[in-house]
This record gives sequence, structure tokens and C-alpha cells, in this order.
Amino acid sequence: MTNVLALFNMSGGVGKSTLTMNLGYHLQKDIGKKVLLVDMDPQASLTTFMGVSPFDLNRTIFETLTSKDELPIINELHECDLIPANIYLAQAELQLASELRREYRLSDAIKKVNDNYDFILIDCPPSLGLLSINCLVAANYLLIPIQTEYKSVEATVNLLQTTYEIAQEVNPDLLVAGAVPTMYDDRTTQSKRALQTIQEVFSELKQTPSFEHSQVFPEIPRRTDFANSTSEHLPLELYSKQNTAITALKDIATVLGSLK
Ligand SMILES: Nc1ncnc2c1ncn2[C@@H]1O[C@H](COP(=O)(O)OP(=O)(O)OP(=O)(O)O)[C@@H](O)[C@H]1O
Ligand SMILES: [Mg+2]
Repeated sequence: MTNVLALFNMSGGVGKSTLTMNLGYHLQKDIGKKVLLVDMDPQASLTTFMGVSPFDLNRTIFETLTSKDELPIINELHECDLIPANIYLAQAELQLASELRREYRLSDAIKKVNDNYDFILIDCPPSLGLLSINCLVAANYLLIPIQTEYKSVEATVNLLQTTYEIAQEVNPDLLVAGAVPTMYDDRTTQSKRALQTIQEVFSELKQTPSFEHSQVFPEIPRRTDFANSTSEHLPLELYSKQNTAITALKDIATVLGSLK
């Protein structure tokens, strides 16, 4: 079965797009999984990170969502296929507002290509509007990147329950794969405390059926080479082979690779 993962957190700038690109790369390269990446954010960071210029595109996920056009798949960029986005996607929420099955547009589209992939990773926007709802409906797993700083952890923990209740309403089968602590700095007490809080919250949430199999994945260290690599349109490993963050990415990809 194809695993469809939504990388979601309503907080902005926590590392969702960076993680989507790098996990896709390692799932394909190290674990041998066929991977499709989907950019569902009008900011189009993932599209840009992958080396595709959003402004030059005639066909993006926007046309698929609004006109049910065929998915505009770009093949084999750094091992993965990509469905790109651009700023026009911001109009989709308004355009779809009065449409039937508006929450199911992404899910319906993805089902047509499901069989070609082992993993579909959806990079969600940092908001909880119709675009994110489409991501949560299309997914069978939720993966939550959380920045290991006080403000971000507080915000995520507060919103986790709400997110989950909404997700359950639209997609009762959605399971939580877990949290990925990001931008971890082992020299700061703040990062250590934040990581501890994430671990405590998730160990409590394990009582909830949908969180039963969730886990706190290995933390991704804070490394400036993440920004450098994406500005060169490369996964971290192809930019900085010896970077110590690569071990965490590979470990997460290995765990995801064994998801049922
Ligand atoms: N582990 C990391 N260490 C240092 N910087 C990082 C790390 N992960 C991501 N970054 C940087 O943080 C910034 C935000 O990352 P990214 O765009 O992946 O976050 P996001 O959650 O997708 O943001 P948004 O909510 O705006 O979509 C980028 O400049 C990125 O290079
Ligand atoms: Mg992003």
C-alpha cells in the first residue's frame, strides 16, 4: 500500500519543506522507495528548493485542485518526482469555497497515481485552511515537524488537539506517525527542554488510539547547511556529504520505510 504522509504544522518556518525534500531523497536513495513529493503551499518553497522556478510553470497543483486537470508530475528531480505549486495556489481556497467535495480534491487526484509510488510526501502550508484540510484528507499518516524552541513547542502542543480533532472529522483513518523535533541545538537549555516537552506530550498522547503508534523521531540538528543546500537546490547529503544531520535524516527514513 502507498503511504501518504502529510508534513503538517500550523506554525511557520519549523522545517516542513526542508524535511519533505530531504526525507523524500533518503527514502528513495537509501531505502529504495519510489517517492512523489507534493507542494501544497502557495509559497512554493518545496518547488523552489527542488530547483523548479514556480513563476515559469503553466501547470501546477492549482489546476488539478480547481479544474481536476491531470496531475502535473515532474519526473526524477534528486531521485523523487514532484508536483509543483506557485502563488496562484493561494486563490484555490476562495475558488473552491462553494464547490462540492472541495475537501477531497487532492485525495481524488492522488488516488489516480497512487499505484506508481511507495510514498507520497505532502508539504503542507502553515495554516489550517482548505488547502491543509485537503492534505489531511489525502494522507494516511500525519508527520509533525516541531521546532525545538519554547514558543514553537507551546504553539504546537496547544494546537495539536485542535488539529487532530479536525483531522479526525474529515479523515477518521488518519494515523499520527509522530513528531520530528527540528533545529535542535544541544548547546542550549531551551532546545533540551523543548525536546523533553515534546517527548512528554507524545508519551501522554499514546493513550489516544490514533497516537498509539506515534513516536518522537530522532531530532534534526540545527545546521546552516540546510539553508545553503536548499539555495543550491540540493538535498543536504549532496551538498555536504559529511554533515552530521544526515544520520538523523537516514534514521527517520528507515523508520518511515517500515511503516505498514
Ligand atoms: N535543521 C535546520 N537547521 C537550520 N536551519 C534549518 C533547519 N531546517 C530548516 N532550516 C531553515 O529554516 C528555514 C525554514 O525552513 P522551511 O522552509 O523548511 O520551514 P517550513 O516549516 O516549511 O516553513 P513554512 O511554514 O514557511 O512553509 C529555512 O531557511 C531553512 O533553510
Ligand atoms: Mg514550507
